Amino acid sequence: MGSYPYDRVMAEHSVVDASINVTPNAEGLVDLAAMGEPFERDPYPVYAALRERGPVHRVRTPEGALAWLVVGHEAARTALADPRLAKEWKHASADARVNAVSSGTHMLIADPPDHTRLRKLVAREFTMRRIADLEPLVRATTDELLDAMLAGGDGRADLVEALAFPLPITVISELMGVPQLDREVFRRWSDEVLGTAPDEEKAVSAEKLTAYLLDLIDSARHRDDDDLLSALVRTSDEDGDRLSAEELLGMAWLLLIAGYETTVGLISNGALALLRHPDQLAALRADPGLLPGAVEEMLRYDGPVETSTYRFTTEPVEIGGTVIPGDGQLVLPVLADADRDPRRFAEPDTFDVRRAPRGHLAFGHGIHFCLGAPLARMEARIAFERLLARVPTLELDTTPAGLRWRDGLLLRGLRGLPVRFAA
Ligand code: HEM
Repeated sequence: MGSYPYDRVMAEHSVVDASINVTPNAEGLVDLAAMGEPFERDPYPVYAALRERGPVHRVRTPEGALAWLVVGHEAARTALADPRLAKEWKHASADARVNAVSSGTHMLIADPPDHTRLRKLVAREFTMRRIADLEPLVRATTDELLDAMLAGGDGRADLVEALAFPLPITVISELMGVPQLDREVFRRWSDEVLGTAPDEEKAVSAEKLTAYLLDLIDSARHRDDDDLLSALVRTSDEDGDRLSAEELLGMAWLLLIAGYETTVGLISNGALALLRHPDQLAALRADPGLLPGAVEEMLRYDGPVETSTYRFTTEPVEIGGTVIPGDGQLVLPVLADADRDPRRFAEPDTFDVRRAPRGHLAFGHGIHFCLGAPLARMEARIAFERLLARVPTLELDTTPAGLRWRDGLLLRGLRGLPVRFAA
């Protein structure tokens, strides 16, 4: 596989690059793991080259799993809503070489009817009202973080550390009623669980995180507050259905993990897109009314979730002429590629804040469509509104090649984003 162009630095590549070799190896696999850091930095041309060959590809992932990748908008969207692709781990084949790392049981690893029940119980409490109530906190937190950044003195900062990381974790801990959350410890555990660490290491972090969450749930049982975690402890529907201890643990896990790293990625990837396209940054400064649409374009252009979470076949599934066997094969729709498909979005590799794209798949599709989408959108809108208002000159303080990205296929996010500004 050594033919990936190592000097490529996130070019604007509307044309499929013929020099990228995505021919399967002797085992019939496209080895994404062998593509290393350049693939982490810019996976888009690889997905585009695969898409040229068809919608379904057998790959080895950077995590070492054996999966069927589904590329292209139409095929990925259809796969996301296909009930033959199940989420419950009991369906997983050993051949896929993946292990469940999670605490408790939650809706993203459940199929109907369990999924329907869990989603309904949580949606009762995770309301638009609760999200709207968080807006003043998001605004005040963003301003405090920007105050600290601007007071730094030398006109330089890492925007991930200064804003993209602390904002979502503050919001999610407030939402859950744990303002005292030990952020650095939590960040390390969640980072290990979501990355490409060996399974034994992941299991150790997952265990620590579980013990921590059980403590949080226990204290939520003893308070009579209005935060989401206490509300979930108390909630029951008309039939008296409640979340079990196992389900509460799963939900706390899902909200903290799903609700935090993703939003960090949206703010940092979105900021990078603006910094790499100064004309678009200027357009947004000139007309902040473009912000909600610009956030959608950030999600489409370089969203934080690269592939969906794991799905397993429960019967043979044919996609674009390829039949994926029905024995628990791992199937991964590639959201990042779906949103760069020229058959769905004109000039997909162009970042255009006026595009305001509809129908992107950054939040998924079908019954597992992101429950936190309104919260993530609100946070990003306010973060960029305040950033642009408070920091009149903002530039990238490194070359795109100097940026470090997360490893692993699931999440796409920057490790750091050095910026300079007029101090
Ligand atoms: C920019 C930020 C976010 C992105 C891009 C994102 C993306 C996604 C995606 C793609 C899925 C579906 C995964 C699949 O089908 O395999 C999903 C599900 C989910 N997300 Fe988000 N998410 C974000 C933020 C949040 C936040 C802030 C929360 C909550 C606080 C949240 C809670 C959830 C939950 C509970 C699910 C599972 C829904 C279900 O299984 O029915 N997400 N998210």
